[in-house]
Amino acid sequence: MLSIGIIIGSTRSSRVSPQVAHYIHKLAQGRSGARYDIVDVQSYDLPMYDEPIPAAFSSDYQTPQAKAWSAAIAALDGFIFINPEYNRGVIAPLKNAIDYLYPEFVNKAAGIVGFGSTGGASSGRALREILNSLEVATVKVQPGFNLFTDFKDMREFTPSDVHNNSIQHMFGQLESWAGALKEVRETA
Ligand SMILES: Cc1cc2nc3c(=O)[nH]c(=O)nc-3n(C[C@H](O)[C@H](O)[C@H](O)COP(=O)(O)O)c2cc1C
Repeated sequence: MLSIGIIIGSTRSSRVSPQVAHYIHKLAQGRSGARYDIVDVQSYDLPMYDEPIPAAFSSDYQTPQAKAWSAAIAALDGFIFINPEYNRGVIAPLKNAIDYLYPEFVNKAAGIVGFGSTGGASSGRALREILNSLEVATVKVQPGFNLFTDFKDMREFTPSDVHNNSIQHMFGQLESWAGALKEVRETA
């Protein structure tokens, strides 16, 4: 069974991302192609990146937090990134968490679920490029929730079910790519 992590990258105390993650997690229940679990960057309490050697060259991580984060990502076959945007870019705590790792991501697949005033479109483009550099294959379909129509007062997630078709399409494509890339890793 494939294992897909729904990654919450926002760590601020008043964050909204967990509501989106739990919605995606609920929609994934009952799918036979993969098991979906929420992985919350906040719970790893990662310091601002301060490793001496980039993970592309050494994964001898210095802190217990980094070791735990590494193990969590290494155990997954694919990812769904819950991806809001701060100032049109990828949010800093997610980028910080990604920067710790390299081999844990290589030859895996990812979907991106955006949210923001334009559905997280800008940060989605930026995250795709970052993941590309980690050799993560990102599926095309990118559900994007709108801060003004899918949220009440920008705080309470009240999603329109108009997104559900594209979310299911993303699950299907992600499972298929994650399965194919698992074979790539096993035969490498
Ligand atoms: C520092 C900051 C910058 C933001 N910049 C953008 C932005 O450029 N585009 C956008 O659509 N939303 C922006 N927002 C709104 C976020 O999309 C919204 O606050 C969202 O809830 C953030 O996710 P989080 O609550 O899980 O941290 C910004 C929010 C913050 C706190």
